[in-house]
This record gives sequence, structure tokens and C-alpha cells, in this order.
Amino acid sequence: MSLLMTRGLSIHFGGVAAVDDVSFAVEEGEILGLIGPNGSGKTTVLNMLSGFLQPDAGEVIFAGENVTRLTTVELARRGLLRMFQMTRVFGRITTLDNMLVAGMAMGLTEKETNQRAQVLLEELAMTHVQYLDAGQLSGGQRKLLEFGMCFIKPPRMALLDEPFAAVHPVMRETMANFIRRRHAMGQTFVLVSHDMPIVVELCQRSVCMNAGKVIAVGSTRSVLESTPVIEAYLGSSSHV
Ligand SMILES: Nc1ncnc2c1ncn2[C@@H]1O[C@H](COP(=O)(O)OP(=O)(O)O)[C@@H](O)[C@H]1O
Ligand SMILES: [Mg+2]
Repeated sequence: MSLLMTRGLSIHFGGVAAVDDVSFAVEEGEILGLIGPNGSGKTTVLNMLSGFLQPDAGEVIFAGENVTRLTTVELARRGLLRMFQMTRVFGRITTLDNMLVAGMAMGLTEKETNQRAQVLLEELAMTHVQYLDAGQLSGGQRKLLEFGMCFIKPPRMALLDEPFAAVHPVMRETMANFIRRRHAMGQTFVLVSHDMPIVVELCQRSVCMNAGKVIAVGSTRSVLESTPVIEAYLGSSSHV
């Protein structure tokens, strides 16, 4: 059975269907790409999977349980965690303290949190900024910190929304390595990204959305080469 399944997921904003009858599955251990032109509904799907938005219709099944109406906290406890397109870290406490807060919120002891935080900061090349306030970090470093916070207690599934956008290439590589390493350890991801070379490399399978609907599912290459997907990208005025 798939680790996560959506069935007929739909939500409207003021009469406009932002997500319309979306069904797909995420298999245990895969990195599923979620692609599509700007405004196609990718972030809204992640918001519904992680409890930040309640769908008007449809359901989300996670690890065999119907989790459709659960809150973000209940979902995080079950191991379904998302990262944001715009990072959310506490700017006026240190990088390390952000990690500690995340660990304690996930129910780890202070000692355990400290140990894991040091390992993650090292892995993310952030040890030298651990005592800086997170507000002083660059955008890319804040994203790396968010990875650290998300993985202080590794989730069963991590939902990543444009982690590579506007990030310095060196940090992008740190991030990609982090994802590769976790994937090799069996971690499941859903990755929203406009960076097609990275999607092709990291995601064996992808789902492509356009105007709120799923227009293609399958191997990433076959999805990118399919006519509806090419038409969706060419037809969109947005930058891809
Ligand atoms: N909170 C909201 N209120 C009204 N419209 C929204 C809201 N969030 C998203 N939308 C609309 O829903 C559509 C899908 O947006 P989004 O999920 O952000 O797309 P993507 O992440 O694929 O770029 C867009 O037309 C967007 O303007
Ligand atoms: Mg988005």
C-alpha cells in the first residue's frame, strides 16, 4: 500500500478551483516530484496534505489512516511534515536554539535534541553560524536551518516546497546532498521544484499539475515529454 494517497482533493478560493479533483499516491521511500507552472496548485496541495488548509472535498490517507481533517500538529506527530516556500524560523533566537525548539516540540529530551542538532548543523555546514541569530542568516542558510529543524526527528514523509529557489549554488548542492543521503536511507519526500535538472535527477516519478488538475503522472522523463505538460508550460505566461 502507498504511504500516502489523495482522492479527489479539491479546494476553491472565491469560486476559483485552486485544486480540482486531485488524486495521486506517494510510495514509501520515493522522492515524488510535484511540478507544474506557477499558480497550478502545488503549494495548495501541500497545504492540504499538511493540515494548513482544509479541502472542500476529497481525502488524504496517510499510512492507512484517513487524516483529512487532522491539524498540523496531529499530522506532524504522525510524521507528515512540510517545509515552506517562504521559510519560517525564529529570527531573534540563535540558529542552534531554533533547532532546540524544534526538537523539544517533537518531544525529544534536551540532551537528545542537542546531540542531534550538532550532527545536523555539521551535515548542513552550519556549525560556524550556530550562535548567530537566525535573522542574520542568508536566505539559503535559513532554508538549510529549516531542513535541520524538519529532520531533528526524521519525518515519515517530508513535503518540500521550492527548497532550491533563490538559493546560492553551493547551498543548493548542500541541500541536494542532504536529500540524496536521506533518500538513500529510505526517507520519503514530495518535492515541489521548478529546477527541472534537479527534479529529473532526484525524482524517479513526478506528478504534473496545471490549473488545479493533475495532467500527467509517471516517470519524470515521460511526464516532461508528454504533450499536455509541454503545452501547459508553453501556454503559461509565467516563468518556469
Ligand atoms: N489563500 C488563497 N486565497 C486565494 N487564492 C489563493 C490562495 N492560495 C492560492 N490561491 C490561488 O490558487 C491557485 C494555486 O496557487 P498555488 O497553490 O500557490 O500554486 P503553485 O504553488 O503551483 O504556484 C492560484 O491561482 C493562486 O492565486
Ligand atoms: Mg507554490
